Amino acid sequence: MTSAAWAEIAAFPTPDLRTVFDDDAGRLDRMTMAVGPIRFDWSKTHLTPEVTGAFLKLAEEKDFTIRRDALFAGALVNNTEGRAAEHTAERGEGAADSVARARTFHNRMRALIDAIEADALGPIRHILHVGIGGSALGPDLIVDALGRDSDRYDVAIVSNVDGCALEEAIKDFDPAATILAVASKTFTTTETMLNATSAINWMTESGVEDPYGRVIALTAAPDKAIEWGVDETRILPFSESVGGRYSLWSSIGFPAALGLGWDAFESLLEGAAAMDRHFRLSAPEANAPLIAAFVDQYYARVMKCQTRAVFAYDERLRLLPSYLQQLEMESNGKSVTAQGEPVDGPTAAITWGGVGTDAQHAVFQLLHQGTHIVPVEFIAAREPGHTLDLAHHQVLLTNCFAQGAALMQGRPNPDDPARAYPGGRPSTTILLDDVTPEVLGALIAFYEHRTFANAVLMGINPFDQFGVELGKEIAKSIDQKGPSGFDPSTMALIELALGVSAA
Ligand code: F6P
Repeated sequence: MTSAAWAEIAAFPTPDLRTVFDDDAGRLDRMTMAVGPIRFDWSKTHLTPEVTGAFLKLAEEKDFTIRRDALFAGALVNNTEGRAAEHTAERGEGAADSVARARTFHNRMRALIDAIEADALGPIRHILHVGIGGSALGPDLIVDALGRDSDRYDVAIVSNVDGCALEEAIKDFDPAATILAVASKTFTTTETMLNATSAINWMTESGVEDPYGRVIALTAAPDKAIEWGVDETRILPFSESVGGRYSLWSSIGFPAALGLGWDAFESLLEGAAAMDRHFRLSAPEANAPLIAAFVDQYYARVMKCQTRAVFAYDERLRLLPSYLQQLEMESNGKSVTAQGEPVDGPTAAITWGGVGTDAQHAVFQLLHQGTHIVPVEFIAAREPGHTLDLAHHQVLLTNCFAQGAALMQGRPNPDDPARAYPGGRPSTTILLDDVTPEVLGALIAFYEHRTFANAVLMGINPFDQFGVELGKEIAKSIDQKGPSGFDPSTMALIELALGVSAA
């Protein structure tokens, strides 16, 4: 944090949140912004006009607009891997040739979906999708959020290599009416390939004649899928320049596109494209993902908050926190800059969270009275996702807003410290018009761009993830060669649990 702008940001006194609205009638207007169907409210954060002004200087120092334009132009922004990061092209926003290629791939996916809907693979009722990380979290979030009322297909998304996950998923599936979507950008990921093989075995053992004829491969490595036994006509490719955790818009979104219907998938892409345009075209001071990144940076680097919490006050969005964990922590959990120098401050906060109101009865004690300051993000929708008594939605939303107010205002108790609420604790509220494909697309794209904006402000590359490799490598070597050369604790665990001793 050596730059002039950082020095300026850090020099401002931390405002007392309990009084930020006093004598500042314009604060609410200044600190809220609507982007289409999503309203952002940062007025309960520590951001002041002065701090925002200094952050705008930081954005300029870090070439924010140049880097943003490079992202959309398909430049090699993932410099450590020599790749572009072209998830926006999947939504129609990006370099012309990449957009055209994405469209071709989408057309291919649509044609296969039409064929499946016309029973070309037999009468299908169940979609079994195996994948992990970015090849599972996005589709899982979309299908869970939007597929609640859908009676088109039963969709199961299996990621964990623990056989309990697959066993549970298939227990009510008829193998003769199931298609198996194998989702893996690389088509080499151990967990996915083992789950895929076990799913094939389940079909074979149940008498399905041509189980490989039921496999759809969703991958950027079609050759590997062919080698594995998938027919070329059932491979839905996507571009190598689409990162795993940014891939739900590509063929990785297949279970959502088939499970919810093509129109819904297209609306999801359109919602994301609208947010892309907002991010690409808005000036920095009116740019929602960038302002949100200012807030993130303020808490991570100035107030030294090690975590940030996301609470979805909407059951439909219950998987959002785990989706964001991968997006934010795999992207920005780095210790070196894009140039390989040590970073000049803390990077990604640890993202955690849950669903409201459940979380209020579990973890909010710490948020209100604990020693950690945790910036909280509340997400709620104006429209309920159910047809029950509206009292449910009213109680849900009033609880959401009450928590933000309580965190900010607190309540002193000079007579009894155990019953005192310090207040001054920050929160952001994101209010959605509804949870529809368009809105969800825009919301996820907002988070993607916010993650990118954070990376730009910190000077890091958010598009690689070398940190996940070492553990995978070691596990593979134990599986292949047996354990050797490990510390006594690891050797003892392997021997005790697996009955395998030193090679
Ligand atoms: O282990 C990390 C990771 O590479 C993620 O980035 C990715 O989303 C996941 O594994 C799955 O990879 P693949 O799609 O190649 O199976």
